[in-house]
Amino acid sequence: MVAPVLEVVGGHTLSGHLPVSGAKNSALVLLTASILCSDQCRLSNVPSLVDVARMGQVLEAFGIKVKRPEPNCWELDGSAIAHAHAPYEIVSKLRASFFAIGPLLARLGTARVPLPGGCAIGARPVELHVRGLKSLGADVHIDGGMVNASVPGGRLKGAKIYLDYPSVGATETLMMAATLADGETIIENAAQEPEVVDLANLCRAMGARIKGHGTNTIVIDGMEKLHGAEYATIPDRIEAGTFLVAGAITRSDLVVGPVVPDHMTAVIAKLREVGCRIVPEGDNHLRIQAGDRLLPTDIETLPFPGFPTDMQPQLMALLTLAEGSSIITETVFENRLRHVGELSRMGADIRVKGSAAIVSGVPFLSGAPVTATDLRASAALILAGLTARGTTIVQELKHLDRGYENIEQKLRGVGAKIRRITDPNELSADMSSADRLVQTTTEEVKAGDRPPVSIN
Ligand code: EPZ
Repeated sequence: MVAPVLEVVGGHTLSGHLPVSGAKNSALVLLTASILCSDQCRLSNVPSLVDVARMGQVLEAFGIKVKRPEPNCWELDGSAIAHAHAPYEIVSKLRASFFAIGPLLARLGTARVPLPGGCAIGARPVELHVRGLKSLGADVHIDGGMVNASVPGGRLKGAKIYLDYPSVGATETLMMAATLADGETIIENAAQEPEVVDLANLCRAMGARIKGHGTNTIVIDGMEKLHGAEYATIPDRIEAGTFLVAGAITRSDLVVGPVVPDHMTAVIAKLREVGCRIVPEGDNHLRIQAGDRLLPTDIETLPFPGFPTDMQPQLMALLTLAEGSSIITETVFENRLRHVGELSRMGADIRVKGSAAIVSGVPFLSGAPVTATDLRASAALILAGLTARGTTIVQELKHLDRGYENIEQKLRGVGAKIRRITDPNELSADMSSADRLVQTTTEEVKAGDRPPVSIN
């Protein structure tokens, strides 16, 4: 079985409405909040993604009863939670499952969760989570890659916590833990991302007393217990931003939604800066019209409300075609410029110096076989393929499917020529024989069918 690839035939403008699913980075943590109560929680607008399915497996491993009455609706019953040991083989693939350590300690007073490994974009340490849990009174020991935590006396105690960095995950882990702690917890230098606010709003719907969510200081008044709730996940601002860039890079007139515009201020500002027109459409959609020219701009990724790191690869793909040079500085993750090499294979002119990429605009990109290195890099390569001359083959789709729900169906719905292929012989005729050879050989080498050969 050959690994599936995406074939993107460039040069087609898009038109119509690109639908936006529920936010991956909200849904994942909302699911873990179900650990906090022994009632049923019902979450809607949950995107159907590999990562979300994995989180469901983690929760079931804890004894949470999980039902899915409809594709994007989850019912979670925490009454029979049995134990607090998260399975390594899932945590190692899904960093967000580590965030469950907070609600597990709050609800059960104990937790054994594997340290999440690093990933393509960085080491992804969790010392801010661990330090905060210790401030709340937990004993935490790490050995053999396992985080063993327990609460002497059984209940966490409210505390004042300062985060060295406004970590999204650490803020979420500690806010959940604090909802059942004895007393008041103050989290200073907290993350202000919309997904943190979404989690706070779910916890409040469950009876938690939280103030200041969305600012850098969150105050939580611990409760004895929480109750079940019904809640809808916010729209995915990163998917929505990716789709706005799809409109910009194909020079289209496109509607994207549902969105919450206030969650996308930095991305909308940058797209306007490069020449796009973006206006509200209906009550919760945006319309993007590409400008006559694509202008360069500089971008620095920052914690919210700064420009989101999860949109950096996508904007880089767009800026490879700007009339001039742009400087993109990645300040959040230490290794999130790996898409530069793949975009360069398509003809982009990008030089990396430390955490900055200098992107010099070129008149056009050319289709090529490319390999996705991580989730948002996958999106960037698809966007580049939508505008490139000829056909682009995006390999390593396992990253893409973690974070984008039915992306090729959605893009085809607005006129993109994109399809998922499992048989290399199906590749379009205009793939050059050399490219086809590269494609087939690469797959066969990966499958172990053929020794590696050098192709000049
Ligand atoms: C969340 O990751 C998102 N994932 C990421 O989205 C997103 O890029 C990131 O926030 C930043 O916005 C989920 O919500 C599941 P952080 P998280 O803790 O919580 C350092 C995507 O593509 N740090 O804010 O892991 C860390 O190394 C993914 O959807 C510590 O040093 O991000 C990084 O450099 C990628 N110690 C920075 O903080 C810690 O204890 C930001 O990490 C924790 C974090």
